Amino acid sequence: MRTLALVSQKGGAGKTTLALHLAVAAHHAGLQVAIADLDPQSSAWKWSERRKDHPEAVVTSAEQLDHLKGQAAAGGLDLLIIDSAPHADRPALVACKAADLVLIPCRASILDIDAIGQTYDLATIARKPSWVVFNACNTSTEYDLEEAREGLQQRDIPVYPGAIYQRVSFSRGFIPGRTALEIEPAGRAAAEVDELFRWVAAEIGLQMPQASNTVEAA
Ligand SMILES: Nc1ncnc2c1ncn2[C@@H]1O[C@H](COP(=O)(O)OP(=O)(O)OP(=O)(O)O)[C@@H](O)[C@H]1O
Ligand SMILES: [Mg+2]
Repeated sequence: MRTLALVSQKGGAGKTTLALHLAVAAHHAGLQVAIADLDPQSSAWKWSERRKDHPEAVVTSAEQLDHLKGQAAAGGLDLLIIDSAPHADRPALVACKAADLVLIPCRASILDIDAIGQTYDLATIARKPSWVVFNACNTSTEYDLEEAREGLQQRDIPVYPGAIYQRVSFSRGFIPGRTALEIEPAGRAAAEVDELFRWVAAEIGLQMPQASNTVEAA
């Protein structure tokens, strides 16, 4: 089993959005996947309750995470995705330690970029590979994204080579417990998620039982 953590001390960066979309991408690829919801707001768990289908989200805590991870591995899960809370150092550190790979969603604005160091330090303390993923990027200009990318590269903070853009389909499906992969499978949001998922899978060595049908649908 592989474990992926979505961590950012900044609120609203896109942790839950990316956790749910990556979980559905993994499910579409034929993997056994679940989400560990470490956030007391339980947004991922509420989404999964409305969804009433795989992938399932389970509410957990920093204290319970290792136990849950052990159970998930014993149960034959291929991938556990941890969605974590903002402004919570210890749970975020526990999530990083549990992970094979840490993704740090970040908006391409100076306020968000300035705040990224704290999260990156947690992943570094946990000695886990971590990558910033620029999320909700401006679709009308690449300027902010390129500037943000350069700023982090100058600080030697690794940045995912692709990007996720601001698109309504990322949030439109949440009320009925869906994602952009299902409400608009041929859309750009789905293609961006598919690209990110494939990149993550290669980074952590996930074996694919079948081709991802998000790309086939697109
Ligand atoms: N790429 C995107 N395009 C459009 N809307 C987005 C995108 N990413 C996130 N959002 C929206 O931004 C808001 C915050 O996203 P999300 O809840 O995923 O962030 P978070 O990091 O999990 O927040 P928190 O720190 O509160 O847990 C949500 O309303 C979500 O629908
Ligand atoms: Mg969240």
